[in-house]
Amino acid sequence: MNPPLKPPLKLGIAGLGTVGAGTLQLLDRQADVIAARAGRRIIVAAVSARDRRRDRGVDLSAVRWYDDAAVLAADPEIDVVVELIGGADGIALTVVETALAHNKHVVTANKALMARHGTRLAEMAEAAGVALAFEASVAGGIPVIKTLREGLSGNRFSRLYGILNGTCNYILTTMRESGREFGEVLAEAQKLGYAEADPSFDIDGVDAAHKLTILASVAFGRPVDFDGVYIEGIRHISRLDIDFAEELGYRIKLLGIARLTEDGLEQRVHPCMVKRDTPIAAVEGVFNAVVAEGDFVGRVVLQGRGAGAFPTASAVAADLVDIAAGRVVATFGVPGAALQPIAGAPMERHHGAYYIRLMVVDQPGVIAEIAAALRDQSVSMESMIQRGRAPGEAVPIVLTTHVTVEASMRRALEAIGRLDTVLEAPRMIRIEDF
Ligand SMILES: NC(=O)c1ccc[n+]([C@@H]2O[C@H](COP(=O)([O-])OP(=O)(O)OC[C@H]3O[C@@H](n4cnc5c(N)ncnc54)[C@H](OP(=O)(O)O)[C@@H]3O)[C@@H](O)[C@H]2O)c1
Repeated sequence: MNPPLKPPLKLGIAGLGTVGAGTLQLLDRQADVIAARAGRRIIVAAVSARDRRRDRGVDLSAVRWYDDAAVLAADPEIDVVVELIGGADGIALTVVETALAHNKHVVTANKALMARHGTRLAEMAEAAGVALAFEASVAGGIPVIKTLREGLSGNRFSRLYGILNGTCNYILTTMRESGREFGEVLAEAQKLGYAEADPSFDIDGVDAAHKLTILASVAFGRPVDFDGVYIEGIRHISRLDIDFAEELGYRIKLLGIARLTEDGLEQRVHPCMVKRDTPIAAVEGVFNAVVAEGDFVGRVVLQGRGAGAFPTASAVAADLVDIAAGRVVATFGVPGAALQPIAGAPMERHHGAYYIRLMVVDQPGVIAEIAAALRDQSVSMESMIQRGRAPGEAVPIVLTTHVTVEASMRRALEAIGRLDTVLEAPRMIRIEDF
């Protein structure tokens, strides 16, 4: 005979959209396997959303409904509040604060909230002796938080990077495969539901920066510092750059990178050129990946679906099973008092190689002027491609540099941009050495 199960864990789920409805379905269909792993059943006792009549794919007739999610968060019958509404502030923040103030465990998929308020909320959870679990907030179904915080807890990390936004990766992959320009591919992604009607959070790098902020706190044991992230999106990536990247042996990826340097911790999100034979270059379409470099383990690569109802529900469920089984760990891996601020390294001090593309008038002396501008800032060129010959007309010139300091690179680009023979603002993409 199996031992009797403990009393069920009772959930209140606030938000029944993509992730909320996916979570309801998972909890329904996987109820037995979850109960076996958690040692008790996990049941949905209450829910809240805006529209009570909308079909959520499971029968909610026996479940308490709240019009006000903040009231749900204080329901004395509930053990865990699952926040799946979204947004850094407003109702989502109120729900989480209310739940913690009532000593309830919280599970959330909300990266914006965690990136902005994670440190303070973690302190509230710690004081209440409850879990604040957020696996679903980074890279959807990939168990990256648990891997970094628990599976790799014997390591110090030097660098952590990843493809953290599936929309951007889909757009960049499709641009390369189809030969189409950014705007056209974005419109198609919106039609297919891979990009939001307002895509700016994704394509301007903000969403990836939220996730990077969270990863950097888990990996480096520091308070969340979203404002310290350097952010550049993918709007300016053109078909031409993607073709040149191929020719040079690179792929263009939007990466989030956290790296310890002599100047402090770099946190940056921007398009990168990565060598075509690296694991990260092979991550295509809507897939996400995270690479962690630990001093004892070496390089660990995690890859999978970074969004969507079921992958994200998978991460929510993992947090719930931990809580049901009594596995409550410090939110960011260490108690709040042990989180150590690390100074942010300014982007101007970043050391790296660069890809530069210029549109120039094809006339004698142009290359010499560009070379002089680089020399004046001690930037050394590694390679140069001049495409086609069209005397008197615009032609692209692409060059790559050896490792240099970002401030010098920017000064050189300003000088190059001022040349009469240079027709457009120079395009610059950082080359990452993985
Ligand atoms: N979508 C993904 O693949 C994914 C992946 C990882 C993490 N996340 C995160 O998961 C969270 C939810 O995302 P989602 O894509 O599931 O969003 P969504 O589809 O827009 O769903 C949001 C839900 O919140 C409800 N809601 C909105 N305002 C509310 C309020 N004032 N009170 C109660 N409920 C309210 C909505 O109600 P109605 O349905 O009645 O309108 C809806 O059910 C976000 O933090 C997001 O960043 C999403």
